[in-house]
Amino acid sequence: MIEISDLTKEFKSGKNKKLTVLKNINLEIEDGDIYGIIGMSGAGKSTLIRCINLLEKPTRGKIIIDGMDITAKTGRELSAIRKNIGMIFQNFNLLMQKNVRKNIAFGLEIIRTKDFIVPGMSVKEYRQLSYFKKRKVKKAEIAKRVDELLALVDLKEKEFYYPAKLSGGQRQRVAIARALATRPSILLCDEATSALDSMTTDSILRLLKKINEETKVTIIVITHEMNVVQKICNKVAVLDKAEVVAMGDTNEVFTNNTSEIVRNLVGGGNV
Ligand SMILES: Nc1ncnc2c1ncn2[C@@H]1O[C@H](COP(=O)(O)OP(=O)(O)OP(=O)(O)O)[C@@H](O)[C@H]1O
Ligand SMILES: [Mg+2]
Repeated sequence: MIEISDLTKEFKSGKNKKLTVLKNINLEIEDGDIYGIIGMSGAGKSTLIRCINLLEKPTRGKIIIDGMDITAKTGRELSAIRKNIGMIFQNFNLLMQKNVRKNIAFGLEIIRTKDFIVPGMSVKEYRQLSYFKKRKVKKAEIAKRVDELLALVDLKEKEFYYPAKLSGGQRQRVAIARALATRPSILLCDEATSALDSMTTDSILRLLKKINEETKVTIIVITHEMNVVQKICNKVAVLDKAEVVAMGDTNEVFTNNTSEIVRNLVGGGNV
């Protein structure tokens, strides 16, 4: 479970001035949820997701994953936490000079198994574990995992293509496979379908739902599109000007809520 508790993020804006981008955010995301966070441009969505994977340090508040406050972690523990969190983006962020297989394998090639030290484990305990050898993940192991992932995202026939020769939807499939390579328990999606047409959006959403059902990975979906939340999210939080203005089961939030921002979302199709 991910518990976000009283999270506030401020950025400096000029001398002695600060901009509050997230204000006292409280959210509970259960294991296996597909949790939507919807709001207008500038509401603070990307900043919130960047706090969850610790690319931004919260100014105040806690982010607790499975009972552990991750905001206080550093060094090896922090990198272990990051490996448990995959992320995909609007613009895919693929390595253009590597083919599909190499893009998917990348996360596995750069890690060493010692990075998977379990939080709380002492160095002595870690050294005693024979399977935590200080070696890279074996090539054959990587190849096997890449094959599994190619099948999962249905891209086997494009395995040697470079990203420049793929469609947007195919690029996002590669990005999804790459994000899942290390078997994270959380997948963060920041506007993952915003650059895609509606049919391709639907196919990516179906894929995310299938992955969620098969692997039980918790998915957090950041979007400004109502359609995305309604199609796949079981829960949703509406973010407006740095604050959560509504949250709960997707259907309830959009049928029972009378706040202006929610009415705009429902009425306009998207923000
Ligand atoms: N590193 C930073 N320094 C200063 N201000 C920042 C920084 N990152 C984000 N902001 C500000 O925080 C606010 C929220 O930005 P954020 O990117 O989280 O919004 P968003 O909801 O993701 O918007 P969009 O839908 O356009 O992606 C914006 O006003 C932005 O200018
Ligand atoms: Mg954003």
